Amino acid sequence: MQTFLVTGGAGFIGANFILQARSLQWANVVNLDILTYASNLQTLAELQNDPGYHFVKGDIGNSELIAYLLEQHQPDAVINFAAETHVDRSILGPESFIRTNVVGTFQLLEASRAYWQKLSPSKRDKFRFLQISTDEVYGSLRSTDPAFREDTPYSPNSPYAASKAGADHLVRAYYHTYGLPTLTTNCSNNYGPRQFPEKLIPLTILNALDGKALPVYGDGLNVRDWLYVTDHCEAVYLVLEHGKIGETYNIGGRNEQTNLAVVEKICASLDSLAPQAGLHRSNLIAFVKDRPGHDRRYAINCDKISHELGWQPKEDFDSGLQKTVDWYLNNPVWVEQVRSGAYQDWISQNYENRKG
Ligand code: NAD
Ligand code: TYD
Repeated sequence: MQTFLVTGGAGFIGANFILQARSLQWANVVNLDILTYASNLQTLAELQNDPGYHFVKGDIGNSELIAYLLEQHQPDAVINFAAETHVDRSILGPESFIRTNVVGTFQLLEASRAYWQKLSPSKRDKFRFLQISTDEVYGSLRSTDPAFREDTPYSPNSPYAASKAGADHLVRAYYHTYGLPTLTTNCSNNYGPRQFPEKLIPLTILNALDGKALPVYGDGLNVRDWLYVTDHCEAVYLVLEHGKIGETYNIGGRNEQTNLAVVEKICASLDSLAPQAGLHRSNLIAFVKDRPGHDRRYAINCDKISHELGWQPKEDFDSGLQKTVDWYLNNPVWVEQVRSGAYQDWISQNYENRKG
């Protein structure tokens, strides 16, 4: 069986990818993660006795460690999920975004290039470096603009988006300059089980369960294109196996929603699955001060991956949201663990100045 070096595999999407990769026997996995606040190894506890899974704590920017891991495990692919990912944090403190997303990706590329150049011809042909990126690199759309395509020019607006764009450009350069067999995927907003509750959907679910205010930035009419996480992971695997090297693939849910609509759907779902006498959770919605530079709309045109690789999302927003809400209701221990300590500090820092 092949082996993947997955970076950032203790985070939301990486962990879901690893669980799928092991249960569907896509590959053995070495998971390299530095374990920031956004990670949670408890998510992967079910793999602790799996001989095809190996965890290493470390930084994608540590070139010696990466060189050692590549030599030791001889992976067929490096899949780079590792990143600082939260836009609001990138506004309050951009430095770690540059360090991990730009410099870290550069170090990972360098180590991968050195490893790849020394491989036997057959392993060399098979090797892939897959960069997991975001639709946010394309900037903001007006309501009448067509959705982002793979050839839409990059126009990032937040420090997070700019750092991901920088990393994507490096990946592109390593293909064009050195021939490193790279692939890039640009995906829209993910949601689903195991997402850290600083992002809109899990934050809203958990606040609504506690009867707390549901903060909606600005007028709530910013639009995102939501994709259920397992659909993203399947797309990543498909691109890895069948994508054309040097190419990028957009991945999206064909599911544009305003933030207000998302929050209202979560409220309705919780009112029916976990009713509390006299409480209509939509009454908890609180419009708060907007995010600076808040992108108005993202939308992904995913015709390329559909036509070339036959990918389609399996979940629609109703089915995906139902599964997500169920998961948070049924995993109170996971929820309590991630909400302790540093999480509370972040909630005070981010929301204290938004009131009114
Ligand atoms: P996440 O924040 O949940 O997890 C990121 C993981 O990376 C964490 O486990 C963290 O510990 C790890 N990490 C951070 N810095 C590291 C470093 N220097 N070395 C090793 N590990 C490090 O993120 P996510 O939502 O799972 O996103 C994963 C990837 O997918 C990111 O590259 C992100 O840009 C991209 N993406 C996310 C979304 C989304 O909606 N969440 C959408 C499109 C693309
Ligand atoms: P988020 O989950 O942070 O993802 P991204 O900024 O990467 O798209 O936010 C999704 C949308 O929800 C975004 O338009 C900002 C908005 N939002 C709120 O209205 N309230 C909140 O408390 C958060 C975290 C986000």
